[in-house]
Amino acid sequence: MNNHVVIEAATGGGTTFDESEVPLYYSRKTADILHKYGPGPRIHFHMGMFDPGAAPNTTVAQRVIQQRILDSQEAVLEHAAASWGVPTNPPGSLLDIGCGLGGGSIYWAQEYGAAVTGLTVTAEHIPLMAGFVRQAGVANLVSPVLGDVHDLRDERTYDAAVAIESTGYMDRERLFSVVARALKPGGWFGVQEHFVCRPEWTEFIDGYYKTRLGTLTEYIFAAHAAGFDLEQDEDITDRVAEFWIQSMAWTTAELDQAERRGTPSPIARDRLLESALTHGKLFRVWRDHAIETRLLLFRLKGR
Ligand SMILES: C[S@@+](CC[C@H](N)C(=O)[O-])C[C@H]1O[C@@H](n2cnc3c(N)ncnc32)[C@H](O)[C@@H]1O
Repeated sequence: MNNHVVIEAATGGGTTFDESEVPLYYSRKTADILHKYGPGPRIHFHMGMFDPGAAPNTTVAQRVIQQRILDSQEAVLEHAAASWGVPTNPPGSLLDIGCGLGGGSIYWAQEYGAAVTGLTVTAEHIPLMAGFVRQAGVANLVSPVLGDVHDLRDERTYDAAVAIESTGYMDRERLFSVVARALKPGGWFGVQEHFVCRPEWTEFIDGYYKTRLGTLTEYIFAAHAAGFDLEQDEDITDRVAEFWIQSMAWTTAELDQAERRGTPSPIARDRLLESALTHGKLFRVWRDHAIETRLLLFRLKGR
C-alpha cells in the first residue's frame, strides 16, 4: 500500500501526507498521554471545553490543573452528547473512529449504554484500552479494534458514529464514504474537529500534530457526496481556547517539579519545553480564530 498520499491542502498547494507516521507518532506519545491525561480508565486526548468567558486561575497546584483538564475533556463530550440528542435517543450501537486510549468509547458505554466499537490505527493502544475497558466494567459493551478507517468494510451496522479530533488525520472523501456505508439508514455522524480558517497556520499545526487539517467547506462537500446532510454546526473555538492555557500551566508545573524539586518527569525535558512554547502559540491561534474547533452533526439523507 502506498502510504504517501498527495493531498491538496487548504493552501491550494500539494502536500504529501505520510499515513504511516500517524501510528508511530501515537506510539511514541503513549507514555506522555498516560502521564498527563491519566490515570483513567477514561483517558482522553482531545481539547476540553470551559464555561463561556471562564479563565480559571492557573497559579494553583498541578493536580488541580490536571483534574480541570480532565473535567474539561469530559465536559465537551457531555456538551456534544446533549447537542446531538444522545440522552433522549441513545444509539444502541456506536462506532468511535480514532478512539485513542478509549476514554470516549468508555464514556458512551457507561453514560448511555451504547455498544461501542472503538477503532484505532495505533496497535500499542489496543491492549491498554482493553485494560481500561475492563477496569471500567464495560467489557461487555466496548470492543477495541485495530484498523485503518479508510479500509472499513462494515455495512449498515451502526446507529451512529463519532470522531473526536481524529478526522484531521484522514482522507475526508474516503472517511465519509465508508461511514455512510457503515451506518444504518438515518444514522448520524458526530464530529469534533479543528478547521483551517487562516491557511498560513496549517503547516505549523499539521507539522506539530502530524495532521492534515481541512476547511469546513471541504468536509461539507465530502459529506454531501457520501449522502450526508449537515444538521448542526457549532463553533466552540472560544470555549476550548482556554485549554491551551491550562495545558501550558500543567507543563510549566511539570518542568518546575523536575528542575526545582527533583521529581523527574517521564516526559523528556525537550518535549516539555517544546510543548509549553507551542501551546502558548496555539492559544493565540485559537483566540484569533486562525483555526476553529467545531462540533458537527451529519445525518444520512432519506431517513
Ligand atoms: C487526537 S487522537 C483522539 C483520540 C480520541 N478520539 C480521544 O478523543 O481521546 C486521534 C486518534 O485517531 C486515530 N487515528 C488516526 N488516523 C486513523 C485512521 N486512519 N484509522 C483509525 N484511527 C486513526 C489515532 O490512532 C488516535 O487514536
